[in-house]
Amino acid sequence: MTMTGNRLALVTGGASGIGRAIVERLAEDGFHIVLVDLNRERADDLVRALKDKGQSAEAHATDITNEEAVRALIDQLPPLDVLVNNAGILRDQPFENCTAADFRRTYEVNMIAVFNFAQAAIAKMRPGAKIVNIASRAYLGARNQIDYVASKGAVVSFTRALAMEVIKRGILVNAVAPGLIDTPILRGFTPERIEAQLALQPTGKAGKPEDVANAVSFLASPRTDFITGQVLFIDGGKSLGGSAV
Ligand code: NAI
Repeated sequence: MTMTGNRLALVTGGASGIGRAIVERLAEDGFHIVLVDLNRERADDLVRALKDKGQSAEAHATDITNEEAVRALIDQLPPLDVLVNNAGILRDQPFENCTAADFRRTYEVNMIAVFNFAQAAIAKMRPGAKIVNIASRAYLGARNQIDYVASKGAVVSFTRALAMEVIKRGILVNAVAPGLIDTPILRGFTPERIEAQLALQPTGKAGKPEDVANAVSFLASPRTDFITGQVLFIDGGKSLGGSAV
């Protein structure tokens, strides 16, 4: 049962990687966390760990591509103060191998689910509510991820369009664009590919999930009230385009 009293933050894909760090950070910030993730076991473990620390959270093993389940979940919750659309999938494969079915699946998770969560949540949101979408630096362009890059470009455009749709209601919508961050999603990469990625990092290293969580905490804060439709890069300078040497 959702606890009242605390401000409410829903985080999709909150059981792993960047989402997990966002959950931990927003719980520290005093939010009651609604953690949505397919991985029930990991989600339940994290909620237990937060409660052991005296923090407030609940888990829902909802598939974010199940539109009815998403709308039913939002219906049963009080209005969200913060929605973090974090869950995403990445398949690393050459353009020639990407099928239309791959493309649709990536869009279902990375974009359509974001739309469904946002539309259902906004219907109940009050002035001052925040939406933070997790895009990717890769929306600027990357090889071997045609469907992913296109989906993240869509997330950025969606963020800007949605910010204008809801600005009169006092709801702020922003995105963060992480660069290479050390999380399980990178397990799909070969060691050579990881090495090549690191060579492109001006810092010479991947970022940490906490680096992204800090930025989300800032954009989700009730004290942040005049920023909307923006994309904040959290990429250790990679998007600047220069080389480290
Ligand atoms: P991850 O793979 O570690 O975690 C993703 C979580 O989302 C998992 O717990 C998974 O169970 C959940 N999930 C996936 N599909 C789901 C579905 N249909 N329904 C419910 N839950 C689902 O991924 P990571 O690295 O933490 O990525 C999080 C976000 O950050 C993604 O949107 C990703 O595209 C983005 N990102 C990650 C970068 C990185 O270098 N790791 C860089 C830029 C963006």
